[in-house]
Amino acid sequence: MKCRFHIITYGCQMNRYDSSTLSEYLISRGHRWVDNLDDADLIVVNTCAVRQHAENRAIGRLKSIVARKKKNHNLKIGIMGCIAQQNGEKLFEIIPQLDFVVGTDQLPVIAQIAEGKFRCGTFVNANTDFMGIDSIPSITPGQVSTFITIMRGCDNFCSYCVVPYVRGRERSLPDEKILDEIARVVDNGIKEITLLGQNVNSYRYENVDFPALLEKVAQIPGVERIRFVTNHPKDFSDKILDVLEKYPRKIPPAFHLPLQSGSADILSAMNRKYSPDEYIALIENIYRRFPHSAISTDIIVGFPGESEQDFQATLNMMKAVNFSGVFAFRYSIRPGTAAEKLHHDVPEELKIQRLNQVIRLGIQLANNFSENLVGTIQDVLVERVSYKNPGKLRCTAPSGRTVLIDENSAEIGQIVPVKITAAKTWVLWGKIIS
Ligand code: 5AD
Ligand code: SF4
Repeated sequence: MKCRFHIITYGCQMNRYDSSTLSEYLISRGHRWVDNLDDADLIVVNTCAVRQHAENRAIGRLKSIVARKKKNHNLKIGIMGCIAQQNGEKLFEIIPQLDFVVGTDQLPVIAQIAEGKFRCGTFVNANTDFMGIDSIPSITPGQVSTFITIMRGCDNFCSYCVVPYVRGRERSLPDEKILDEIARVVDNGIKEITLLGQNVNSYRYENVDFPALLEKVAQIPGVERIRFVTNHPKDFSDKILDVLEKYPRKIPPAFHLPLQSGSADILSAMNRKYSPDEYIALIENIYRRFPHSAISTDIIVGFPGESEQDFQATLNMMKAVNFSGVFAFRYSIRPGTAAEKLHHDVPEELKIQRLNQVIRLGIQLANNFSENLVGTIQDVLVERVSYKNPGKLRCTAPSGRTVLIDENSAEIGQIVPVKITAAKTWVLWGKIIS
């Protein structure tokens, strides 16, 4: 039986990667992707449990989608990903019309469901040995950049975070498999690879660690630019910077290093395993070796016990580091985590107030970063025609900032030198120099 399917994705890049891989896998087995939900006989919602807000959105969407079953009796609807793993069978009570609840890393089960080989109505627990299926995420014609998963799961157990519970223990993919996959996507026109994992710095397969893998990727012919997300400050080693120094044109000094808080006490309660001083020492070392680094971060406000002084320490640290971009979150209690048991003493209104302050400062820092690039020459990768800016090509600078240049001034997929002429918070404008 061949089916017409649609996947709705919430959450992080790993979820987007999984959805894209699942889609490619189903297509390789003869099933057909449909854009319109009305045409589908299988709808899968891939979900995120990292914050309550994300959970509410996905559950709300599912509740509205199941109404379609009244019109189409053959329609199967299910949930996969982190909410599915976290809540399991309970989801059949919350949404009785659901056909399946499939935990994390169980992509092959969805194919069995599509093929009618699986009894619906049961919860399929995570497959925490899962290393991926032999099918690359779909590459569309003209696409120049893609993610490649190198490791899954997380062993860090930050006290606020649900990821280690829903995605299981850290496991790294064999380096040979990663390198083959990259060679294949490069053959399909890809120029930029983003290595993906919950904590790429702890990648290890036999005797290949993350810096060694990074170097192997840099040596693949046709790979022109390499990025990696996400890092953990406690695992970010000098060896990574050594590799960057060897391949300066291929691996730009752009690092996402989640700080979470600038307070020593809060970092300790979060089980982050670094102090503010250690974080600053790491940043100083990065700037010393790569003065033009773009360092972005994640901040959580309102963690249990966060005093005004702790919060001020976070703002001060943000200024001291001069982040190029800041993702700010309001602490959200996650069932089953260590922090769930702490005394939740920061009132919601205060969390919102602090969140707004972090967002405001983050925008100011991002503005400064962009403005400092005006007048410089940046080697940008031309990605595609801009959807929002007619007549412009959308490119990416080494720092990750979007750069707009005139259409027809370069080819998609080229890396070209561009003089930056104007800047907004997240977007730069420039002209090709000859
Ligand atoms: N509440 C708020 N933010 C969270 N994050 C992870 N768990 C929580 C939570 N319980 C944030 C962290 C992490 C990012 C991906 O999401 O900042 O780095
Ligand atoms: Fe969650 Fe911490 Fe692991 Fe990141 S490192 S996924 S925040 S437990």
